Amino acid sequence: MNVPQLPGFVHVGKTTEDLHDDLSFALLGAAAQAVDERGVFHLALCGGRTPEPFYIGLCIDVRFRAIPWKQTHIWLVDERCVPLDDAASNFRLIRECLVDHVPTPRRQVHPMPVLESDGDLRYEEELRRSIGGTEFPPRLDFVLLGMGEDGHVASLFPDSPAVAETRRLVVFNESPAAQPSRRMTMTFPLLNAARQIAILVTGASKAASLRRVQEQWANGADPRKLPVTGLDPLDGQLGWYLDPAAAGMQEGPEAEAVPDGG
Ligand code: 6PG
Repeated sequence: MNVPQLPGFVHVGKTTEDLHDDLSFALLGAAAQAVDERGVFHLALCGGRTPEPFYIGLCIDVRFRAIPWKQTHIWLVDERCVPLDDAASNFRLIRECLVDHVPTPRRQVHPMPVLESDGDLRYEEELRRSIGGTEFPPRLDFVLLGMGEDGHVASLFPDSPAVAETRRLVVFNESPAAQPSRRMTMTFPLLNAARQIAILVTGASKAASLRRVQEQWANGADPRKLPVTGLDPLDGQLGWYLDPAAAGMQEGPEAEAVPDGG
């Protein structure tokens, strides 16, 4: 089986563990560059089950100790509308697996205020204020996304209102396909302005979805039906981090990187 052909670059780790290491080194490099150039690193993280071992590795593995956590702001890509200590909360996962174990000052950790009616506007304002500068949309340095089997990214679900958003940076969204159905999410204008977008996809259950994404992307897919195809960086880099199972390949030496366009 060949490496999937997807926009941006595709990196298939030799094993899932190697893939997490490769992604961790990419994040470390992006963080070091951001701090060197701008003195701060704006990192947006997704929820879901996929990134859990990656988050744990990032904070316990000594090879990643050089990540400048004190200069990092940690943002949420999306959140379920539940209390922040609920078992379904993305923030709870990120806090337990990462935030509680790194020296990022608490004021630089930004959970989404999902239980407040104007929480989306407030998060947008917090992003603009913290990132500063005059650019609109503001530029996150590194965005980590997962992908659902239906092709959703963040909480941008097929046929949900937020996939068509063209101005707002953060909105509430609702989809019967989501569990729980009410979410807050970053939108494509904000995601596509990022300097780097990394999509982490692991496990055989995602292989068929990735093949569908590959086929439809090549034939002019509609992001409202297959949201991941709405990723189109303005001036940044899109990278796919796949394990052999998600890529439909055997673990082993054939895993490789494919530059732009595949
Ligand atoms: C969420 C997410 C979402 C996630 C995908 C994949 O809140 O669920 O941020 O976009 O990345 O649903 O989820 P899994 O990693 O659990 O497959």
